[in-house]
Amino acid sequence: MRSSQSAVSPVQGPIIQYQARADFIDLSWGHPPGSALPVQAWTEAVQAALTRFGWQALTYGHAAGPGPLIDWLAHRLGRIDGCSPHPHELFITAGASHALDLLCSVLTRPGDVVIVDSPTYHLALRIIADHAVEIAGASADADGIDPDATADLIGRLRKAGRRVPMLYLVPTFANPTGSSLPVDRRAALIEVGHGTGTMIVEDDTYREVCYEPPAPQSLWSLADRAGVVRVGSFSKTVAPGLRLGFLTGEQSLVRTLGQRGFVDSGGGVNHTTALSMAAFGESGAYDRHLRHVLAGYRLRRDVLTAALRDWLPVARFRAPSGGWFVWLQLPSWAPTGRLLVHAEQHGVSFLPGSRCYPYDHGEQQLRLAFTLFEPAQLQEAVRRLARAIDSASFTAGDVE
Ligand SMILES: Cc1ncc(COP(=O)(O)O)c(C=O)c1O
Repeated sequence: MRSSQSAVSPVQGPIIQYQARADFIDLSWGHPPGSALPVQAWTEAVQAALTRFGWQALTYGHAAGPGPLIDWLAHRLGRIDGCSPHPHELFITAGASHALDLLCSVLTRPGDVVIVDSPTYHLALRIIADHAVEIAGASADADGIDPDATADLIGRLRKAGRRVPMLYLVPTFANPTGSSLPVDRRAALIEVGHGTGTMIVEDDTYREVCYEPPAPQSLWSLADRAGVVRVGSFSKTVAPGLRLGFLTGEQSLVRTLGQRGFVDSGGGVNHTTALSMAAFGESGAYDRHLRHVLAGYRLRRDVLTAALRDWLPVARFRAPSGGWFVWLQLPSWAPTGRLLVHAEQHGVSFLPGSRCYPYDHGEQQLRLAFTLFEPAQLQEAVRRLARAIDSASFTAGDVE
């Protein structure tokens, strides 16, 4: 007879964030495909970290992050960006989202104004909004944020008695536009930050997701280490499940972060994972892995952009030279809010542009993420999108 225990089927809750829909191509998800996640190489990195550091890999970690990862990162950033941070200018975080949340905690107070690029990473808007601040969108054009208009905006807000402690942007291979801020605007924006005392928070998550190197120099390195905090992540280059990232900023800021109660109580963030990342980097596995995933992402970008040119000529876009996204501009007769309903009926989806602005805007824009699906599925997604736009009910303005 079977025991009552074995008769009960095990209960297993959800494991991952992404929810697949049958025969549906949802290009709203900025996620990697399973094939881009380094299961075997990461197993070896964890093993190497445990072998090398023994129990020290499993205890509470150093406040700013373990020395081996700090040293490896300082060296790597020196190689791939304009300058190498001093070890005391680095702080390991649980990803870029955590870094942004932490920065909001230490830089802002409720009622402050935080300025963001427009459009910007839609979930950064959520993180910033958690801090009970007002979010103001800076003027921007196809090349990105306008430094002069931003200086004016900060001036006006200050005159009205508001504190403007922080400006957030993704200047390199941006989410959602895929474009990068030109170097002259980088320099001008740094001047704005220095002149106003507003801290620039540079989300540099996509620096290493670069298809036509070199990536532009970061604001942090151009600013000569002052007035800019750069936020980085291993989510796009290694695996989002690691929840591992970092920031580079002024030593006083890094010291402040290391003195937060949660660090005092729990030690450095994701210590075991951070030491495994150091092993992954030092062994050469990171470079090998990056070459592998970039080849796959570059191919997907090329397939998607070719399909858009062939089958969706009404859409305008710039092919991105890095990052995970293509940003489409549609004609005024095709507002993306209404298109979304029709697209979903045709088995395809996207992120409406309006989600990426802190104010009412973006109705003619949408973001396509090209990483999660296979090239053939990307082609099929564009065909479905074209069919949705061409469908009689859509062009007739039949709103559900
Ligand atoms: C610009 C940007 N910042 C931050 C994140 C999230 O990074 P993390 O996974 O390190 O929290 C993303 C992910 O989509 C992103 O696109």
